Amino acid sequence: MSSHMHLVQMLFHSPITHTALSWANEADGQLEGMGDFGYWQNIARTLERGCFDAVFFADTPAASDQYKGGPETPIKFGVVWPTHDPMPLVAVMAAATKQLGIGVTLSVTGTPPYLAYRRISTLDYLSHGRIGWNVVTGHMRAEHRAIGNELMEHDERYDYADEYMEVCYALWDSFSTGAILKNKKTGILGDPEKIKRVNHQGKYFRCTAVSPTMPSAQGRPVIFQAGSSGRGMEFAVKHAEAIFAIQPHLDAMLGFSRRLKEAADVAGKPEAKVLFGLHYVIGSTEAEAKRRLEELRERVPLDAALSRISAPLGIDCSTLDPDQPLDEVPTQASRGMMEALSKVGTEHGKRTTLRQAATQMGLTGGLPQVVGSPEQIADQIERLWRDSGAFGFNLSAATKPGMIEEFVDHVVPILQKRGIVRREYSGTTLREHLNS
Ligand SMILES: Cc1cc2nc3c(=O)[nH]c(=O)nc-3n(C[C@H](O)[C@H](O)[C@H](O)COP(=O)(O)O)c2cc1C
Repeated sequence: MSSHMHLVQMLFHSPITHTALSWANEADGQLEGMGDFGYWQNIARTLERGCFDAVFFADTPAASDQYKGGPETPIKFGVVWPTHDPMPLVAVMAAATKQLGIGVTLSVTGTPPYLAYRRISTLDYLSHGRIGWNVVTGHMRAEHRAIGNELMEHDERYDYADEYMEVCYALWDSFSTGAILKNKKTGILGDPEKIKRVNHQGKYFRCTAVSPTMPSAQGRPVIFQAGSSGRGMEFAVKHAEAIFAIQPHLDAMLGFSRRLKEAADVAGKPEAKVLFGLHYVIGSTEAEAKRRLEELRERVPLDAALSRISAPLGIDCSTLDPDQPLDEVPTQASRGMMEALSKVGTEHGKRTTLRQAATQMGLTGGLPQVVGSPEQIADQIERLWRDSGAFGFNLSAATKPGMIEEFVDHVVPILQKRGIVRREYSGTTLREHLNS
């Protein structure tokens, strides 16, 4: 367990993060703000004030078409639609901050590794080493169809991603010491003898190139990953410096950490840094937080929740009885989410129904939830951190930006007073934050 709790804030460049219809809540400003640089820059400054390790953008680059065979329900209710590219926001938020790390999701689907390398490395250079790349394999059918492909078989997606990363590593590793001279007197910028030309001829990719970017302040971006199936975990352990996970309750978190440790032992890797997803609803008092929760819950139509859950399950849930048990069934979409969602109702030894899992998905995106006054939220988070042995949490606020500000101004100071959240950054790069 880390000596202090690491905090990351999760967002989408979309009207919602995890709570369906949160955009329609009176207290929420995301729908109006998402097209405005200032909105995102204010969130970035707030998180930096709270000494968060990073902000993190999840991304699913197409509206889901799994539910009822089309995108109508996500469009109607704004369920991660529109889904804008988060990449420009990385630069916008970096420009407004000096130390906050910025994690961003870029799928290996559709972008050749050389171009992904160039985009991510440019941002890492520009931000002075504050970028993390969440490498995902694209579990949603719609994102593949949008570019004229079909969803690749689950485990093969990870083989493809392994080779993808090989190309990126070859480019990052292509610089020897002293490669960059920047000598204005001699007019020599780089030493071509010390920058290897990459020549990759593999099963899925070919790349003959020299790195097009300068090394960044942290050398290369931090790699995040969130696969939690057997093959996904193998990939995560091999590549990731920190791992995102969604597990619905403490027992499931402990089970996940055990499996991850076994996978790390097999691969001969050190214990992974796990950031568990956690949703919060905060109020100035317990009563206010509960009222806010009820307002949010009441606004989630079952149709919106079922469309949300259909995407990671890879199943059209309109064809199922909502009251049937949601047992794990084989899927080519997200096996990790299938497993986590089927455990939503199992904490007390019961089976989960589809309705229960969908309701949780609609309200929190499948994340476990803490609700209450700042003191109560701090107590619940601290207990979960200690009991789970987690490295930290990937937080999702029910409404934005208000709850993010309330968390930073009222919960963070309590955790700082208890000595479990940093009061200031000790480094400037994202890797330094994660290792501090
Ligand atoms: C906290 C968290 C964030 C994630 N963010 C994304 C994302 O932004 N985009 C995406 O396509 N998948 C995302 N995923 C899904 C995983 O990356 C992974 O693709 C999916 O779970 C399928 O892999 P698996 O079957 O190995 O679990 C996320 C998962 C978790 C736990």
